[in-house]
Amino acid sequence: MAKQWSVADRIGKFGTWVMMILVFVMMMLAGKLGLSRQTLRAMTSQMQSTKIKQRAFKGYRLTKHDVLVCTYAKSGTYWTLQIVHQIAHRGKGEFEHIHEVVPWPEAPMPNVTKLANELPARTAPTGLRVIKTHLESQYVPYSPEAKYIIVVRDPKDIFVSSYFFSQGMISGPMVPVAEWLDLFLFGTFQYGSWAEQVAGYWQWRTRDNVLFLTFEEMKANHADVVRRIAAFMGVTLTDEEFAQVLEKSQFQYMKRIDEKFTPQRPWPFNKRLAGFAVMRKGARGGSSELLTPEQQAQIDQRMKAELQRYGCDFPYAQMFEGASAEPVAAA
Ligand code: A3P
Repeated sequence: MAKQWSVADRIGKFGTWVMMILVFVMMMLAGKLGLSRQTLRAMTSQMQSTKIKQRAFKGYRLTKHDVLVCTYAKSGTYWTLQIVHQIAHRGKGEFEHIHEVVPWPEAPMPNVTKLANELPARTAPTGLRVIKTHLESQYVPYSPEAKYIIVVRDPKDIFVSSYFFSQGMISGPMVPVAEWLDLFLFGTFQYGSWAEQVAGYWQWRTRDNVLFLTFEEMKANHADVVRRIAAFMGVTLTDEEFAQVLEKSQFQYMKRIDEKFTPQRPWPFNKRLAGFAVMRKGARGGSSELLTPEQQAQIDQRMKAELQRYGCDFPYAQMFEGASAEPVAAA
């Protein structure tokens, strides 16, 4: 596992860390100072920094021990991390916080384990460890050695999930839905462009070491997806191990241990962020809780147009269009 950090890289990493601390301070004060909008903007510029994205995997060569979970934010990332981690540990994965065992290269916070840390793979009975990334495909190195699991979710549901999540992240009132939607569709959104993300990874889907999934199929058949992921990882589980993986990745189980997935503040603020849950509803097609039918249609139209602009033939209409009409309850 090569690791070659130049002095410039180290300074850059330190700068990123200082910026993260500042953003967290702003998040803590946003409500009191009426700075919600500015805080959200600062978070966006940090999360969408090209420099940070380019540096994320620098100096690390992916190996056969690595299983990457590549998602747009709010697409069921932690759900997938939990499934993969539990499969890697044959249903017995233990951690205080998921980022003790799962690196997140574009978020180099002190309490997130590093890519170069070999311990998670060494302590896993299968020798596999999971890496989380929200980066677009052009920032993620492709290696035939590693495995990649890509999860895509209906952008209408992502939008709703992101709204409540960001509301929880800032200790202040959230910007109006229409403003957040405008950013999602036409501006620089905190999590980048959904269509760009999907278009990039859609091109990877035919590779042998890539598994392309949707949140919706995970919801429709959780057990089947767990089976497919285990087979993809090359792990044969006993019936008992399989049952444990299934149980530990159920929505209600994960909700009970939400603090193990809640974003952490970096030192010296490393306390749990209060006031929201990552495991919120875990539903499919419930975007009408926040969006009007016109706004839902606007998301569909814009994402289809954007996918087309990227030359991507992902079957959007078949997958997501009009999906909000039929909410499906959480498992
Ligand atoms: P909602 O906010 O719509 O409830 P991410 O992990 O990428 O941040 O995604 C978070 C979303 O995944 C949340 O959606 C959360 O409830 C949902 N989720 C997390 N674990 C889940 C599970 N085990 N089953 C179903 N949905 C889950």
